[in-house]
Amino acid sequence: VIARQRIVVIGSGSAGLIAALELSEAHDVTLVTKLELTESNTRWAQGGIAVAMSSDDTVAEHIEDTLRAGAGLCNPEAVAVLCAEGPARIRDLIRLGVGFDQQNGELSRGLEAAHTRPRVLHAGGDATGLSIELALARAVRAANVTLLEHTFAADLVLENNRVTGLIIIDPNGNRRQLSADTVILASGGAGQLFLHTTNPSVATGDGAALALRAGAEIADAEFYQFHPTALATADTFLISEAVRGEGAVLLDRAGRRFMQAIDERAELAPRDVVARGIALQMAAQDGEPVLLDATGLERTHGAGFLARRFPSIHAACLERGFDWTQQPIPVTPAAHYWMGGVRTDLVGRTSVPGLYAVGEVACTGVHGANRLASNSLLESLVFAHRCATFLNSEDASHFAENAQDHREKVLALPDITSVSMPKTLRDRTTLQTLLWNAAGIERNGASMRAALEQLLQWQVEGTDIASLETANLLTVARAVVTAALAREESRGAHFRNDFPTTSPAWQHSLVYAQPIAHEVAAC
Ligand code: SIN
Repeated sequence: VIARQRIVVIGSGSAGLIAALELSEAHDVTLVTKLELTESNTRWAQGGIAVAMSSDDTVAEHIEDTLRAGAGLCNPEAVAVLCAEGPARIRDLIRLGVGFDQQNGELSRGLEAAHTRPRVLHAGGDATGLSIELALARAVRAANVTLLEHTFAADLVLENNRVTGLIIIDPNGNRRQLSADTVILASGGAGQLFLHTTNPSVATGDGAALALRAGAEIADAEFYQFHPTALATADTFLISEAVRGEGAVLLDRAGRRFMQAIDERAELAPRDVVARGIALQMAAQDGEPVLLDATGLERTHGAGFLARRFPSIHAACLERGFDWTQQPIPVTPAAHYWMGGVRTDLVGRTSVPGLYAVGEVACTGVHGANRLASNSLLESLVFAHRCATFLNSEDASHFAENAQDHREKVLALPDITSVSMPKTLRDRTTLQTLLWNAAGIERNGASMRAALEQLLQWQVEGTDIASLETANLLTVARAVVTAALAREESRGAHFRNDFPTTSPAWQHSLVYAQPIAHEVAAC
């Protein structure tokens, strides 16, 4: 019989919902989420979930593709777990009512970049994330989980370096403490660090910032993935890679294909290659977006194909004044996914006792330097399940070092309390612009040094939620730029024009800060 714990889960994307659901019988579970239950990065995921489930595919090939995309930085043990346990987690979702698309009585499979064969399951055409989010939310609402929606996780409470609770801000703006034996971060990524992102407004790096303030280690912070194709409108709506997987091509402003000259895999080269190819092409055409031409798909598959296969993108294009069945649409890269995050082992344990992390906020090393398309939902399913299984079967115990490569560069964040002339960061856009320019698709030492100096001077005033989110982004930005500046090589999503080649000497980076005590008395 395992001891019943008070467990707080932060975040309600697929990782948080699965953890809460699977822990809810054996433990007292509270789920804290900043907006309504179904708002998360998961909800907006389009392409689908990569998994080797068909007779012409193997787990070994999925592992190989993942390792290749990760550019030598994946934790092979984590990748083996991801790919081998994926099929069982898909069957769990099917049991919960997720209706994956089918063709001739079999699961339909899309192709995405850097996969050697089609293996991306999807639901509702391009509404995979939404289908999963709604099914999981329904199950969580029916389970014995205390839901705190519109509630902000402000800080972890530590006693003797162990997590003992969480300070929250409730929907009325009141701060209070929740006691907890275990806190699970499932709060997603930090796309709002950058001026252009495919992520929703909730992706403000809160979990990573909480963890850093609690003294946890952030691994591989420098690796931020830029999706090649977001619609070039103010809201940079994601245009799934699955569209290129179906055969859409990229054109310069004169209507010529340009990716073939950059990589033999052309539009289906790994994401970092295509994103950089587009950025270069845009620079060569005065910053004008490139074009994504999907009109040929209407000719090859028949009129109505795009609306049928990609209903959400089709509607989004029309709403923004683009008829992509008739004309190419303007696209641009945008920040999409953080490969780095709170360092965990393969059951979600961080370096801080009592603190776990799963999903995008975590770094198991599964994605290395560049995530393979559609491996992120799979990561959430697999590692949230493993974390719940662990907590359902044993007492939480201290972080156990797993057999990772230990050629790590350990970086202490500069002590910002010693900054002599702090400046107030007045608006989030200034921070996002700095990160986009200095730590975006192409980086170099000079601009990152200047950016870090600026980041260390800034302080965020205000105690409203938006200000606290901006302060969290600032904390994560310092970690990202510190690690990116230290990594004097190019690898995967991290490209430095002053160090354009990959150096085998470099493996993982770890960033940490001195823990800051947060007691309820300080509320
Ligand atoms: C997409 O649909 O292109 C996004 C899939 C992913 O980020 O893996």
